[in-house]
Amino acid sequence: MNKIDISSLVRENVKSLKPYSSARDEYQGAASVYLDANENPFDTGYNRYPDPQQLKLKEQIAKIKNVHQNQILLGNGSDEPIDLLIRAFCEPHKDNVVIPQPTYGMYTVSANVNAVKIKTVNLSSEFDIDLGALEQTWDANTKIIFLCSPNNPSGNLLTERKIRQVLDKFNGLVVVDEAYIDFTSSAGFVPYLKDYNNLVILQTLSKAWGLASLRLGICIAHVGVINVLNKIKPPYNISDLTQRVALEHLSKEALKNNWVKEILAEREVLQKQLLTIGFVEKIYPSDANFLLVKVTAAKETYMKLVEKGIIVRDRSAVVLCDNCLRITVGTKEENKTLIESLRKL
Ligand SMILES: Cc1ncc(COP(=O)(O)O)c(C=O)c1O
Repeated sequence: MNKIDISSLVRENVKSLKPYSSARDEYQGAASVYLDANENPFDTGYNRYPDPQQLKLKEQIAKIKNVHQNQILLGNGSDEPIDLLIRAFCEPHKDNVVIPQPTYGMYTVSANVNAVKIKTVNLSSEFDIDLGALEQTWDANTKIIFLCSPNNPSGNLLTERKIRQVLDKFNGLVVVDEAYIDFTSSAGFVPYLKDYNNLVILQTLSKAWGLASLRLGICIAHVGVINVLNKIKPPYNISDLTQRVALEHLSKEALKNNWVKEILAEREVLQKQLLTIGFVEKIYPSDANFLLVKVTAAKETYMKLVEKGIIVRDRSAVVLCDNCLRITVGTKEENKTLIESLRKL
């Protein structure tokens, strides 16, 4: 159990910042005439600004995730909360973030955009947390450690006990990115929010929920952390269209669960078939909707697949991923096309 002083982590300028107060923040009731936001009065279906706090949508997500809605911040994909977290808590040119490698690339990009130093440390050969190495990497200026579980591009869940040890020992924010959590049988880290106020969870509607083009990322944390992010987020960061469509889809949890089931069954089939391909050397265990596949010559395989109109992700330049391709599990037909093409190479 770790309870840290969140306000001591916040950047000084953010602490003293007076956030922008939008028209829809200042008046939230129902009225018959709205002349407060310089909108066009003619109804296009989109002429009014959206709810800046997305209260209906948060209410629904709070129910599904079993948290309070004031523990939620919604973003334009999870990429927005990643950026907000770095901007709110890391002083450029002074603070740093720790990013175990290999992992999702946006933590590095966002830190670089914000002129925040990055300290890297390798995951183990099984792509798990190397606690000793991680502890030696963070220092007094480390504000955030990014842990991705299931990890992209390796696909595995990080060991729960190790994540808890990091939460216990590190006096800064531990971001656990659970973009792929719906593909696992793990409850993830939401149940630990009551124990750790330095725990920040990222989830998204882009994967299992099938809404990548909608751009809706979910950040769940202690209200103290969420309040800081709310202070600096753009006022109307989630469009009304996104809020409405997301609400509609969140009521179809059974459909999402069926897709997950089907994708997981297809993952097993794909894995078995890939293992029959001569140049496939290894498939790493996956808890996600993709497989990290080691082949004899990744670049050439990638290029030959491109020629056939099949795009996978060449991860061979990434640390610990020598000659690896990351392959998303597609539909039965798509996977069949992939396997047939690989057989012909
Ligand atoms: C681990 C991880 N986190 C976050 C994202 C981005 O999610 P979003 O579409 O919500 O920005 C991805 C996308 O591939 C990802 O792999």
